[in-house]
Amino acid sequence: MELHRSKTRSIREFENWAHSYDHSILNSLLFEPSYKLMFGEVCKRAKRKSTFRMLDIGCGTGTFLAKCLASGLDMEVTGLDIAYNMIRQATYKAKRIISNGSAMTFMVGDAEHLPFESGYFDMVTCSNSFHHYPNQLQAVREMKRVLKSNGELLIVDGHRDDPLGYLIFDVAVDAVEKHVHHCSRRQFIKMFKEAGFQKVTQRMAGLYIPLLATQGQA
Ligand SMILES: C[S@@+](CC[C@H](N)C(=O)[O-])C[C@H]1O[C@@H](n2cnc3c(N)ncnc32)[C@H](O)[C@@H]1O
Repeated sequence: MELHRSKTRSIREFENWAHSYDHSILNSLLFEPSYKLMFGEVCKRAKRKSTFRMLDIGCGTGTFLAKCLASGLDMEVTGLDIAYNMIRQATYKAKRIISNGSAMTFMVGDAEHLPFESGYFDMVTCSNSFHHYPNQLQAVREMKRVLKSNGELLIVDGHRDDPLGYLIFDVAVDAVEKHVHHCSRRQFIKMFKEAGFQKVTQRMAGLYIPLLATQGQA
């Protein structure tokens, strides 16, 4: 498969960052608030189901999934990331905390071509990763495809419509990461609708750095 130039750039960035990612200052400022938001939504749904299957796309070092597993919720979790070193860190972290028999799988893969059968997952999450995807509509379509009917997609990313968010994401992050694209609120809603999500809701979060959570029901 020939990789889009921005994907090659992402892979290089995250293969190099994987070993120090968990010690980044961004953990307390950006990543932890995203996990907290997603964890609340996962808990609400996982408690209602006997077998809850969740996929985290662009899972990085797997901190969010480790948090889910450590909570004791009975669930089957899958983490997918395009960077091999991120998946290696995630697998190591999950093995250390797993004890309650929950199933977990980590794999290298591309958000725009998900290696899963249709209608498999109850929930798909994606935090701080979506702005790296060159074909964002294709990624949302894939997320919808792998969800069961009534399944839930939750994407958390930088809120570029907020004035501070604009400076952080559209100016600073764009200058550092290059070729990334943070969606506006309207762009997210349009994409979710085009991909076939019926009900789409959004909310803002983040104490220091503005985040946007977009949620859709399949
Ligand atoms: C900033 S990290 C976010 C990791 C984690 N979700 C978090 O919130 O801490 C972005 C992650 O997205 C991954 N990524 C970038 N492009 C991707 C793609 N096309 N498919 C899957 N993962 C991708 C990167 O390798 C990286 O691990």
